[in-house]
Amino acid sequence: MPGFPPGLVGALREARRVVALTGAGISAESGVPTFRDAQAGLWARYDPRELATPEAFEHDPELVWKWYAWRRGLVERARPNAGHAALAELERAAPVFSLVTQNVDGLHREAGSENVVELHGNIRRSRCPAEGLTVEPDEAGHAPPPCPNCGSPLRPDVVWFGEALPAAEIEAASGAARSCDLFLSVGTSGLVYPAAALPYEALENGATVVEINPERTPLSAHAGFSLRGKAGEVLPPLVGAAFG
Ligand code: OAD
Repeated sequence: MPGFPPGLVGALREARRVVALTGAGISAESGVPTFRDAQAGLWARYDPRELATPEAFEHDPELVWKWYAWRRGLVERARPNAGHAALAELERAAPVFSLVTQNVDGLHREAGSENVVELHGNIRRSRCPAEGLTVEPDEAGHAPPPCPNCGSPLRPDVVWFGEALPAAEIEAASGAARSCDLFLSVGTSGLVYPAAALPYEALENGATVVEINPERTPLSAHAGFSLRGKAGEVLPPLVGAAFG
């Protein structure tokens, strides 16, 4: 990776409050398919809009459960990559740091990040729709197991299309975006709201916004720094240059 644009490393080093928003792109180098990358994306095999919805689960709980079991298998075989590790390093180095992820793969926590806001839930957990109780899913089953308390079929503990995000998480994410002085947007196409609004909330409050993505996104023209590159290749030298 050639030298970083002037001012970027200093801005990261001097930042008091840092927020990183991540999307599927940061897990791509761990072998977890993104949503919209045509060649390897989840959309290429299935249309998540047909499966990741309350209606689909209502209509065919076994199909939806099997799709999530397949995705859980992918995620369980995946390991955090250098991009995840660099953000865990940044959490230790920055005075105040929040990690907000749209990913449901749990790889940030596995890499050692602690202050993680999971906006879209976590595929490794299941939840009882009646009671909200969450449990680790039963791997062997091909059908949603019954809630141990009330017997209702469990569902994946993730946000489905058309569902509201967990209020506490979106509030925490928005509060962090509005009070940070440096906001990193890593590996997200920036198409899905309300997560996609977060960098603009940071901009409105005068934060420096840094985007890391091999491709341009709607945010690219607004970010103070828009780096064309892979998370696993850009984040380690950037965090190293600022705090190494
Ligand atoms: P997308 O699949 O929409 O976008 C992935 C982004 O990562 C793209 O912009 C790629 O260019 C970029 N990318 C690919 N490889 C990368 C790499 N190695 N390093 C950095 N960036 C890379 O995934 P998201 O933006 O996360 O919502 O999608 C947001 C939400 O849309 C998901 O959370 C999901 C989906 O609907 C729900 O499931 C509710």
